[in-house]
Amino acid sequence: MGPVRRAVEELTSAQAKAELAMLAREIAAADLAYHQADAPVMPDADYDTLKRRNAAIEARFPELKRPDSPSDRVGAAPSEAFAKIRHSVPMLSLANGFEDADITDFAERIRRFLNLAADAPLAFTAEPKIDGLSLSIRYENGEMVQAATRGDGETGENVTANARTIADIPHRLEGAPEVLEVRGEVYMSHADFAALNERQEAAGGKTFANPRNAAAGSLRQLDAAITAARPLRFFAYAWAEISEPLADTQSGAIARLAALGFSTNPLMIRCEGIADLLAHYRAIEARRATLGYDIDGVVYKVDRLDLQARLGFRSATPRWAIAHKFSAERATTLLEAIEIQVGRTGALSPVARLTPVTVGGVVVSNATLHNADYIAGRDSRGNPIREGRDIRVGDWVTVYRAGDVIPKIEDVDLTRRPAESQPYSFPETCPVCGSDAIREPGEAVHRCTGNLICPAQAVEKLKHFVSRDAFDIEGIGAKQVEAFFQEGWIREPADIFTLEVRHGESLRKREGWGEKSAANLFRGISERRSIPLNRLIFGLGIRHVGETAARLIARSYGSWARFQMAMEAAREHEGEDWETLNNIDGIGPVMAASLVDFFHDPANRAAIERLVAELSIEDVEAPSTEGSAIAGKTVVFTGTLEKMTRAEAKARAEALGAKVAGSVSARTDYVVAGPGAGSKEKKARELGLTLLSEDEWLDLIG
Ligand code: IVH
Repeated sequence: MGPVRRAVEELTSAQAKAELAMLAREIAAADLAYHQADAPVMPDADYDTLKRRNAAIEARFPELKRPDSPSDRVGAAPSEAFAKIRHSVPMLSLANGFEDADITDFAERIRRFLNLAADAPLAFTAEPKIDGLSLSIRYENGEMVQAATRGDGETGENVTANARTIADIPHRLEGAPEVLEVRGEVYMSHADFAALNERQEAAGGKTFANPRNAAAGSLRQLDAAITAARPLRFFAYAWAEISEPLADTQSGAIARLAALGFSTNPLMIRCEGIADLLAHYRAIEARRATLGYDIDGVVYKVDRLDLQARLGFRSATPRWAIAHKFSAERATTLLEAIEIQVGRTGALSPVARLTPVTVGGVVVSNATLHNADYIAGRDSRGNPIREGRDIRVGDWVTVYRAGDVIPKIEDVDLTRRPAESQPYSFPETCPVCGSDAIREPGEAVHRCTGNLICPAQAVEKLKHFVSRDAFDIEGIGAKQVEAFFQEGWIREPADIFTLEVRHGESLRKREGWGEKSAANLFRGISERRSIPLNRLIFGLGIRHVGETAARLIARSYGSWARFQMAMEAAREHEGEDWETLNNIDGIGPVMAASLVDFFHDPANRAAIERLVAELSIEDVEAPSTEGSAIAGKTVVFTGTLEKMTRAEAKARAEALGAKVAGSVSARTDYVVAGPGAGSKEKKARELGLTLLSEDEWLDLIG
């Protein structure tokens, strides 16, 4: 603990004042570490001593009590701190493009989807992609009523009190639609970021790695007074739920938001064609260094909102927008070592340990080396990359970093290679459990064959299980998983839920823990006994099944019982249930096989059974398709459609809650047949299904 403290009765007023300032800082720092980082910085008893000391000094010198006094701060538990808010419209991300050709493709895809001729007009907006964090602000009758972070895109955190402290965000709007949800980016300017870090450093507080982290850390504060003291800004660039349209075009809507009092980016323009977009991209890139805030690309959006509506969304990104990213930043450094990490699916990933170097403002000391071929200078087909130059320990290498992705090694400088260096030889066994590491034909990665006996795989699976997009268990992060695994307390997900019964006592006595932190941990765990189906599916850590796929699957089956039964029924990779799984848009045959095989494995099944016994699994409803005549129906399109492209018809049907299948079966509800329909129409007649013309279909869906 800190210095020996004088008895309160002996303090002079000046000493009391100084100590209150110090206590406020120490307690705030402890709160922060406790609520937001993975581990508390001090034992509970010490924390309580600080709080008591603070209260005692305040009792003797009431006039010295600080506006940010720790006694006024409720030590809210993290899980209650930011209540969860379900977004009325999901907060999606943007597809990325890097080369000019990606942008040309983007525009061509749109023309194809809408069946627009190459010379038909198609305007876009182009604006900087702000490197901050997105925020959704809800206004009702002109009053700001709520603000939420993106979270996992479906559910965010309630940060209303904090958002109210941002000067760019109006509290009241004149003449706005009755309901208006404005979305945009919270960010910090370079100047404010530098000044904040200076202040933090002087106060012995935490400094931030970059303006985006600083903005995120400042917005996600339990104490809005801290947010208020941090200079955050906001650009509005989109909207969600709205009771009446803002305009007919993206550019018009943004102008309207500006007129309502929002700050909008001055570099947004409207462009008639790709050439203009690319020219604006270069113009913005040229000004990047002098803007005074971080941007990481340029966003293009289809200007006409009716076209945006027709284009709609892929699973996680709109078809009508793309982010044209700036190319990555680079630096040269020494490759000190190559280490192998074993992931949750057993993949052996080579990691470069580097002499730390700054790349685009961030210190980089690790970078990915992908796989054995990449190190050897070949691609997965055996063709040379880097003109065949291999990468060796002791080499000077170029590191690059694009956005927040893991830094990569791009190339190696052969002129500086030490004479005695040797080619890297990739391990043939798992460095953790010693099992053979094999490379399946057609695969780029070596995989440990140890499965459940490999501690590295088990630990990584557990880390994945507790992670944010999976079970999101408050109080357990990577560090705790490692420690509890080491103790032998948890070996598989089900063990987390029996931890309190088995080892509660030992945990309360464990160094760095105590009654309070243990109680918080167990509360965090028990809050997750009830879990939405999609999080459970993602949490299982099945190879190829990402968060988006898990959500698609959950929506498609609705309940755990239906899902599990279907996976078992599909175990031979054939039959109706196998077809249904493969027909889910966004689920390919590789993922389908991985899922089904996972559920077929007896060890997995036993572990799942133990886990499920601890849980109450929440059904997942398909997105609201109220008033839709085709919600839950299965539709097959065949022949030529004349009013819209096949892609648009499929997207529209899905948006209205229907499933679009590729083949006709007894489970098909509607077959929409255009001119030239062949065998599918015939089969539909044989099965006595409802056949619709394109016009009848359009009538049906309104
Ligand atoms: S439009 C439907 N415009 O980038 C998506 N996003 O990678 C609407 N972002 O989550 C987003 N600047 O946080 C849009 N001018 C801009 C943006 C922008 C930054 C962020 C946003 C989004 C992420 C997507």
